[in-house]
Amino acid sequence: MVNNLIPNHVKELEKSGKWKQLYPVIRSKDGEIIDGKHRKAADPNWKEEVVPIVDEIEKVKMMVKSNLDRKDKPIEEKRGWALRVRKELKKRKENYGVRSIAHALDISKSEIQRWLGVPSRDTLLPFSRKLVPMFDEYMLQESEINYKDVRKDSYHTIKEGGSYPTLKRRSWFFHEDGGEFSLREYAQVQDFPNDFIFVGTKEKIKDQIGNAVSPKMAEYVARMIPKGNAIELFAGCGGMSLGFEKVGHKILWMNEFNKMGCRSYHANFPKVIINPKDINDIKINEIKKEVGNRRIDIIFGGPPCQGFSLAGVNFKDDDRNKLYKEFIRVLKEIKPKYFVMENVKGILSFKEEIKEDFEKEGYNVEVKLIKGEEIGMKQKRHRVFFIGKRK
Ligand SMILES: C[S@@+](CC[C@H](N)C(=O)[O-])C[C@H]1O[C@@H](n2cnc3c(N)ncnc32)[C@H](O)[C@@H]1O
Repeated sequence: MVNNLIPNHVKELEKSGKWKQLYPVIRSKDGEIIDGKHRKAADPNWKEEVVPIVDEIEKVKMMVKSNLDRKDKPIEEKRGWALRVRKELKKRKENYGVRSIAHALDISKSEIQRWLGVPSRDTLLPFSRKLVPMFDEYMLQESEINYKDVRKDSYHTIKEGGSYPTLKRRSWFFHEDGGEFSLREYAQVQDFPNDFIFVGTKEKIKDQIGNAVSPKMAEYVARMIPKGNAIELFAGCGGMSLGFEKVGHKILWMNEFNKMGCRSYHANFPKVIINPKDINDIKINEIKKEVGNRRIDIIFGGPPCQGFSLAGVNFKDDDRNKLYKEFIRVLKEIKPKYFVMENVKGILSFKEEIKEDFEKEGYNVEVKLIKGEEIGMKQKRHRVFFIGKRK
């Protein structure tokens, strides 16, 4: 087996008999084999040379130099080199970010990023043209971050058996070995069952998963109101619907203007009527006509939340809250017995104004902050639900 690891050009040299002289096994003063571990294993009598290297970084640098081109070196080993240098730099209280490791080893930053499983600027291009702000344990040094380039993308290395941070459209999870989560694994983070069907390109599906209300959380909330006929606004791929359906609510109709979202939704809820228009263009009569003579007991949905995370803006006049107003418009006309509106935690800054809006329309409102980790989710997702009951 050891023999298989020796590259052909080395085998040629070996045949010619020059090999032993040209390439001695190199050990550091403290006995560690820096170069030629496999040669030594293949032939314990191989010539040895002891080089007086005591400096940890010098040692790694030599290992890297003599092994960099070896195709048989697994990425784990290369990651090990980078982490060794990182540890040493940290010990010396020097900068230990990707750039510093690259500098110490005299190789490119992108190579180190590859070893560490950190997405480089290049690998990110299809998703975002910008640089990445953070990578958990491989945290970039403050000085390495160009804040002008940083978008809200977040990168996390997930420890085996560990919990998950909030999954958003633009967060990326990596296993400890550097591999990115598969779409199915992302769906599992949100507690979608494994037979849930997603339709679209990788990016579109990732958006649907990250945007979704976790079915588990939706189920938890859906239990708080009596079973009934429901319609959903801003339905996405149907995460929230799935939770509601599980509890026994019957979903009659939904609206979502994203085509791939509609397709995913249809694949999982073939009986639900789908209206794929922009909510702004939907007349109430149209909803009533499509639902037919069936009674609508519940309206639920999570309007997109751009404006809500910005404290300090004038909530009522902010254009970004237009879709929240659309939710109210539909509610006002349909007047179901109950409604559930989901949103991000930031919406709490406007809690009183929102409650007032709903109360004006004839609803008593309860506001609940639900924390994923408190309801048996592995994901630390915090979401706010406005639950209204007609007075
Ligand atoms: C936060 S996501 C909702 C996810 C969904 N609740 C779930 O659990 O899967 C918001 C959705 O609203 C949709 N949307 C945004 N603007 C819209 C509009 N003007 N009309 C209809 N849908 C819209 C987006 O495409 C997105 O899928």
